[in-house]
Amino acid sequence: MALAPGTAAGQRAPAHPSSSSYLSLLPDGPQKRQFIIDCTGCHVFDAKSAFPDGAPRSRASWKERISSMYSRFGAGTGFPIIADPQPADSLAEWLERSLINVRPPAVVDPPPADARVTEFLIPDPSDLPHDLMVEGDGSVVVTGMFTSRMYILNPRTGEFATDNIPVQGANPRALHIDDDGTWWVMLGGPGLVARRSPFGAWTTHSVGMYAHSVARDATGIWVNGHFTGHPSKLAHVTASTGAVTTVDLPSASKPGVSPIPYELRTAPDGKIWMSELHGGRVLSYDPKSRDSRVYEMPVTHSGPRRLDVGADGTVWIPLYSAGEIVELNPTTGAMQRHAMPVRDALPYVVRVDDARGVIWIGTGASNAIYRMDRATKRMETIPLPSRGALVRHLDVDKRNGDLWVAYGASPGTIAARIARVRAQ
Ligand code: HEC
Repeated sequence: MALAPGTAAGQRAPAHPSSSSYLSLLPDGPQKRQFIIDCTGCHVFDAKSAFPDGAPRSRASWKERISSMYSRFGAGTGFPIIADPQPADSLAEWLERSLINVRPPAVVDPPPADARVTEFLIPDPSDLPHDLMVEGDGSVVVTGMFTSRMYILNPRTGEFATDNIPVQGANPRALHIDDDGTWWVMLGGPGLVARRSPFGAWTTHSVGMYAHSVARDATGIWVNGHFTGHPSKLAHVTASTGAVTTVDLPSASKPGVSPIPYELRTAPDGKIWMSELHGGRVLSYDPKSRDSRVYEMPVTHSGPRRLDVGADGTVWIPLYSAGEIVELNPTTGAMQRHAMPVRDALPYVVRVDDARGVIWIGTGASNAIYRMDRATKRMETIPLPSRGALVRHLDVDKRNGDLWVAYGASPGTIAARIARVRAQ
């Protein structure tokens, strides 16, 4: 269902301070950056987390919540995303001390609706739309991480079609679509890459790992092991034969901490680029020479997330907890750092529109999209109508430059939805 441009559920969003404004109450530094990586990747940090019933959460309550999260999502669990936990006692003490004597952020009117933004409600409101991609005809394909469904939006009518992936507990996360309409869908839990032919027939390939992202190259599809520990691993599925090979990447300097491989993108020269959320590194791998190169990020606990590579080879890296976009020259290794216009915006995902000279940035906390002019590096803020809009993924419609946005908080604060930001 399409909602009127610039509105949430047909109405203005209620006044509600952003997650950025709650995070800005915490003192800056490595402890905060580590907290941001560990504790804001699934759900936003907001009034419900920090000031339940209007009062600061007590140390005991923090400790109970932190211990519960560690026991379900820490090392040794089935979803060990909290790879480098701080001791629960000191984290609880720091949160209590930081929030006990501060006023919660003031309730301010949300910014005026931006007529360029339209939201579309996913048919199942409890789903988590993880990744999306625009097909050649402008349809938008979305992975439904929680329901094993794929959604196909016709943006002209606002209607969604659905396709159930024929795999039990499919857990679809990442997606690539070939020019001929073949889909490649990475299924996390089952450790599979699923291929859907342009006629709708599904086949699967076992990659033997819970992967996070996909990248297409001339011969097939790459995925990265989200939880494979040391060394970080890639797997490749050859499109013509279905053969699967794996690659070990150089070991990280923190052997006790699982690096949590994250984004994967193909550069114009065929190299594969990857970020590590906890490892704090960005790596390139050349499938021809099998050489890797490692780039350490300029800030510790910076949480490099969903990077992108431009047609000129420049790599654009969102440093989630450091609040910066790094512009990396892969030849010289030089990094230019661009601060976000809002404190604690949590830049999560970057997509480059080469044709229009635009770097799009989606964030985890500021309820906004940013449009950076590649030449001037100026960032324009485009407010989103929904509060608690944790933006996990973006794709550009190459025909007209429109941006598509997937929101995905878990647990969600709003019914599942995606959004379109018109280029003009
Ligand atoms: C893998 C996803 C994930 C991560 C990472 C995570 N959480 Fe959670 N969190 C959840 C889920 C799911 C819930 C829903 C309630 C439940 O299941 O306990 C939740 C609920 C909460 C709540 C209760 C909010 C409410 O609605 O009252 C707090 C507070 C919280 N988490 C704090 C944290 C902290 C602190 C961390 C970091 C140590 C963290 N979370 C990391 C998934 C996560």
